[in-house]
Amino acid sequence: MGNIHAGILGTGHSYPEGILTNADLEKMVDTSDEWITTRTGIKQRRKAAPGEYTSLFAVRAARQAIERARLDPTDIDLLLCATVSPDQILPSTGCIIQAELGAHKAAAMDVVAACSGFLYGLSLADAMIRTGQSRYTIVIGAEILTQYVDYTDRQTCVLFGDGAGAAVLGPVEGDRGILAAKIRSDGRYEEQLFSPGGGTRRPPTSETLASGDHFFKMRGNELFKVAVRSMADISREVLDEAGLKPEDVDLFIPHQANQRITDAVANKLNVDSDRVYSNIAMHGNTSSASIPIALDECVESGKVSEGKVVLLASFGGGVTWGAVLMKW
Ligand code: ACO
Repeated sequence: MGNIHAGILGTGHSYPEGILTNADLEKMVDTSDEWITTRTGIKQRRKAAPGEYTSLFAVRAARQAIERARLDPTDIDLLLCATVSPDQILPSTGCIIQAELGAHKAAAMDVVAACSGFLYGLSLADAMIRTGQSRYTIVIGAEILTQYVDYTDRQTCVLFGDGAGAAVLGPVEGDRGILAAKIRSDGRYEEQLFSPGGGTRRPPTSETLASGDHFFKMRGNELFKVAVRSMADISREVLDEAGLKPEDVDLFIPHQANQRITDAVANKLNVDSDRVYSNIAMHGNTSSASIPIALDECVESGKVSEGKVVLLASFGGGVTWGAVLMKW
């Protein structure tokens, strides 16, 4: 068991066809393409149509990842769905995806860690595979955030989009696979990004619905500073643990929250921009789906290929943050 690492064997992604551009938002709230572009880097985001739900895209992304891993859904023994926008409260979106995929031998559950959910899932998958408790784990990040966005609140509605990404992990030998993974939380920052209504503390009523308590509320510029510091620090920790330096990183894929956050973290880490992946212009912030969508785009375009050292880092509501370093 000593030399076994968990490695990614296949990736996939999927998103709705609907596109919401900055020009569309200009017609809905007091904003401008110029403000959104310069403050966030976002030009458009995907938006699910009425009747489209989270597991729909999760299943498509998962099928692609399982096929590319050359496995059958019944080979999967652990299915983790990272989401803060589940299909419904019960059962978990993980169980709904499991049934749809026919992954009947898997234990399935949701991981609720906002934008860090996918890296939380990778970290758990890594531990389960290295200890022999799982052979093939699928980690999915899937969100329909546009249903939790208040389209009268210009501070949040310009940021979020919908989509799903997935990765199948299994044991790999040699120096490949996940080299180091770390996850952290600090619940004292709860009110920096939260959706106060709809749970047991503030159950859904016509009043909570009318006052929009189920929508995301965010203190963006306070989060900005914590996000930059946390992602840079935890990235350094995983590099140290693996005995690597920022110059050893071939590709840095951070959570896509804001182009200015990405640039600031890369700058703090001394990773130059040609080694940093960004798709925020096309997708906005898709929370737990953002890293797996970006990762799959990089696999498809050949930016990630055998032997490449890839650093992933995230930050999200909770607050939660994490980093995973791997050799492809
Ligand atoms: N259009 C036009 N003006 C706007 C908009 C908008 N869409 N949104 C805010 N403004 C205005 C504000 O009202 C403010 O105006 P004022 O100066 O007259 O008061 C001005 O722009 C500056 O507002 P700030 O909030 O200070 O803008 P900032 O540069 O911080 O950008 C943003 C805001 C994009 C939200 C940024 O702070 C950010 O990206 N924060 C981090 C978000 C994050 O990482 N979240 C965690 C992950 S998400 C998850 O877990 C699901």
